[in-house]
This record gives sequence, C-alpha cells and structure tokens, in this order.
Amino acid sequence: MEKVVSGIRPTGKLHLGNYFGAIKNFLRMQEENNCYFFIADFHSLTTHPTPEDLHGNVRQVLAEYLATGLDPEKAVIYIQSDVPEITELYLLLNMNAYVGELERCTSFKEKVRKQPDNVNAGLLTYPTLMTADVIIHKAAKVPVGKDQEQNLEMMRTFARRFNRMYQVDMFPIPTAYNFGQALVKIPGLDGSGKMGKSEGEGNAIFLSDEPKAVRKKVMRAVTDAGPTQMNQQKPEAIQNLFTLMDVVSEKETLEFFDEQYNSCKIRYGDMKKQLAEDMIKFTEPFREKINQLKADDKYLHKVAEMGAEKARASAAATLKEVRDVIGFRKF
Ligand code: TRP
Repeated sequence: MEKVVSGIRPTGKLHLGNYFGAIKNFLRMQEENNCYFFIADFHSLTTHPTPEDLHGNVRQVLAEYLATGLDPEKAVIYIQSDVPEITELYLLLNMNAYVGELERCTSFKEKVRKQPDNVNAGLLTYPTLMTADVIIHKAAKVPVGKDQEQNLEMMRTFARRFNRMYQVDMFPIPTAYNFGQALVKIPGLDGSGKMGKSEGEGNAIFLSDEPKAVRKKVMRAVTDAGPTQMNQQKPEAIQNLFTLMDVVSEKETLEFFDEQYNSCKIRYGDMKKQLAEDMIKFTEPFREKINQLKADDKYLHKVAEMGAEKARASAAATLKEVRDVIGFRKF
C-alpha cells in the first residue's frame, strides 16, 4: 500500500463543496492506501490565532472530519503539533532552503501583497514545513488541489536536495495523488462560482448548518426571470441550482425540475424549497454526528492520542536515520 500524507488546515467549517471535493476522495483513499491525515495547526500559527481559537478550530475540524467518515482505524489521524519530530526535520530542511527560492513562491508573494504587515518567517518557510510533514513518513503521494501544486514542486525539490546532499536514497520524491475520476465542483449560492470561494454569508451550505439556516440560504440564491424558450440553455446561476440538486436530490426530482425548466413552466420558488429540504436531509446526519463528537472529549482525546502514537513511531524512525546521515553522533 502506498503511503499518502495530507494536511488539513484548521480553518472554518466544512461545506458541501469540501464534502464532494476533498472529503469523498479522502474516504476512498483511506480504503486503498496507508493514509496519514493531520490537522496542520503549526501552519495555522502564521495567522496568529488566540489560544482559544486555535484549540477550538482544531476541535471543530477534527470532529467534522470524523463525522464525515474519516476512520482512525483505517488512517492515521493526528494533530501536527503532537509530533515534535516534524519540527526538527523542518529546522534541518530550512538549512538547505534558499531565501530566494522561498520568496519566489506564488503563495508567499500573494501573502506579502495581501497582508504586508504580517510577513513572518513562518509564511516564508511554509513550503519547508509542508515538506517535513510529508517526507517525515517517507510518503510517496500527496493529494493536492490546483492551489497546492507549487508547494508539491517545492517538496520535491527539498526531498531531492537532501538525498543528493547526503548521497542517500532516503526520501521518495513525492508525487500528486491521482484522484482518477474528475473532481465534482460544487457551485456557491451567491453566483460567485465555487462554494466557499467567497466569504459572503449565504454562499456556502455547511454540514453543521441548522435546517433554518439552510432554508434561508437556498431561498436567497440568485435566479432570473425564468426561461422564455423551450429547451434553452441554462444561465450560470440556474445551472448552479441544478448542479446542487444533482448531488443532494433523487434522480427523479432533478429530472422533474429539468423538465419544468425545459417546458418553461418552472417555478424557482418550488425548486428551491425542494432543494433546501433535500440538502437538510443530506446534511442532517452529519450535523448530528458533529455535535455529538464535539461534545465527546473522551473520544476526541482517544483518537488524537492513538493517531499521535502511530505518527510519532513513523516519524521517529525517519528522524533517527536523518540525524545519522547528517552527522549527529553520540559521544
Ligand atoms: N497547505 C495545505 C493547505 O493549505 C495544508 C497542508 C499542510 C498540507 N501540510 C501539508 C497538505 C502536507 C498536504 C501535505 O491546504
């Protein structure tokens, strides 16, 4: 089985776009590979959260991923900061990472532009920490979205550089995990494209949303004056509603409204009401599970501890080899 590592940023709540994107793939990945999923709480310090926010976010994300089906019996699920071996490897990798190449990373340049008053060294060395996350387990694969492609390129550079520098074959050069089938792109409700892309209230349906919130957001979704010609092409905002219906509703429901649209009889209000109820039906089990898990400190503690133990065993074995080839020897 192939070793796969993926970091999860502890920011925000999971929405339907996350579920039909990354999470569905994680669920498949954990069946077929030796997966290491961790919550990247070191990485999140670049934004300077308060201790309460940091802990609260990690708890929320852990509970949500477990609620969707990430399984601590199948994958190693852990909190990054529970594995101090990662920080040591990060320090060692930083010695061979050049400031120039780090400054040229697009995600770094973007941060400099967006938050000029908080350009910290953690942002600059974000790619070396990511490299440590992955190669500490000698992982071969990393699932990466478009926005992480350059980070993967940096991981490959740093892993190769280490191997070359010490003339070893210690680290596999990680490659992108291939999801096989195309990723389903879930649109947002405010006509702004991908769900979660805009911060606007009402753009995303969260797995933890109460039914009332779901109804309100769906009923406010952008529509138009309605079709004027039979079988006309759907404008983007309308197509978005159909795409959402496609993932949460029964096939017959989707076909019914499609037919109504094509014959110019559609009433968007009815369609939205149905869509909202189907979304509630879909998300309700997740919401209940999230709430139950968030309140179950004992279970979360058990999961985190079990994950940390497995992750540390794997990390410590690698770090021992690394220290040895670098030349740290006991007197
Ligand atoms: N940078 C990733 C993100 O923003 C999170 C992450 C941290 C990660 N370390 C990783 C992903 C290692 C894959 C492998 O989503």
